[in-house]
Amino acid sequence: MSVAAETDLHRVFRAHPERRYIMFGGKGGLGKTTFSAATGYWLAKQGHRVLVFSVDPQASLSDIFQRDIFGKGPVKIMDNLWAQEIDADGHIRAYQQQIRQKILDMYGLDKVPEEIDNYIEAASAEPAMEESAIFDAVVDIVVTGEYDYYIYDLVPLGHALYYLSMAKVYDEWINKITHLREQMREYEQVASVMKRQKLTEEDQILAELQDIKQRINMSSSILTDKEKTGFFFVVIPEEMILLDTKKAAELFAKFDVPILGYVVNRVLPDELATQNVPDYLKNRIAMQNRYLEQIRSTLGKDVLAYVPELERDVTGLPAIERLATIMYGASS
Ligand SMILES: Nc1ncnc2c1ncn2[C@@H]1O[C@H](COP(=O)(O)OP(=O)(O)O)[C@@H](O)[C@H]1O
Ligand SMILES: [Mg+2]
Repeated sequence: MSVAAETDLHRVFRAHPERRYIMFGGKGGLGKTTFSAATGYWLAKQGHRVLVFSVDPQASLSDIFQRDIFGKGPVKIMDNLWAQEIDADGHIRAYQQQIRQKILDMYGLDKVPEEIDNYIEAASAEPAMEESAIFDAVVDIVVTGEYDYYIYDLVPLGHALYYLSMAKVYDEWINKITHLREQMREYEQVASVMKRQKLTEEDQILAELQDIKQRINMSSSILTDKEKTGFFFVVIPEEMILLDTKKAAELFAKFDVPILGYVVNRVLPDELATQNVPDYLKNRIAMQNRYLEQIRSTLGKDVLAYVPELERDVTGLPAIERLATIMYGASS
């Protein structure tokens, strides 16, 4: 019986069993979804219950698992492995409906006046509304705690940063308002007991604000929880990507995202260099080698894996398994 050497990625998971929220971040198209699926597959094979989930409207988990997953809740892929694609738009529509119902109940109407309805529609087009829907959905998934591992297939980097910074802004903003409300409440309690009715309303608003704040905190704390979260950066050996990644890594550090390491994807296989390949490919290999050298000297031990460019896209369980074996070693 041969014992395969433990890969660095495998070692990181073994060394940090408490990190149950796993994320692969990086620019679009570098392999985040692919690595999320392969990691989920491997963890499930190791006997953990795993949910891979995404808020990306592009339904990329459906593509890689070759299953219709979008907006269907957690869909079982195989033993121990579930995948879920959140339909943020659907959440917004449900939220709109809730607001409409509140208005109908409050004023005893059977139809929401057109002006107000237009307003509700317009408000839903705000990016903040989508953020909020995503916050809600992510929190709903994570608070249930049904899985050993949650692999959060992130939206591209820019969005994730925006999401984190929004969380900070919302949080500060809500803190301020909550504080003001609390002060007002104290003041009103002293000023008059006649304002009972008003006070109750204020209490409701305050409670709602605190609820939003708690949800935002929970959602952004998942990304920044040093004990429970493991964040991997995906890069490829190309100049622009390396520059962007450096900037992003600095920003992520500012938001306290706990980066476990880097995974370099799409490395042209070594054996090509020894074969009789056309100049075109020779040049590409030489170029990659320059960037790989740069990666080794700047990121060094933080690089946990070099993943080769495979001959075709990674879709379906056999291809996912093959990639998981490259990243983590054989499963059994
Ligand atoms: N190592 C690889 N070899 C071959 N194809 C890959 C590899 N990594 C990713 N791909 C393919 O590249 C495309 C983009 O990958 P994906 O994981 O969807 O990127 P992201 O989620 O970062 O946008 C997909 O079609 C995927 O199958
Ligand atoms: Mg993706």
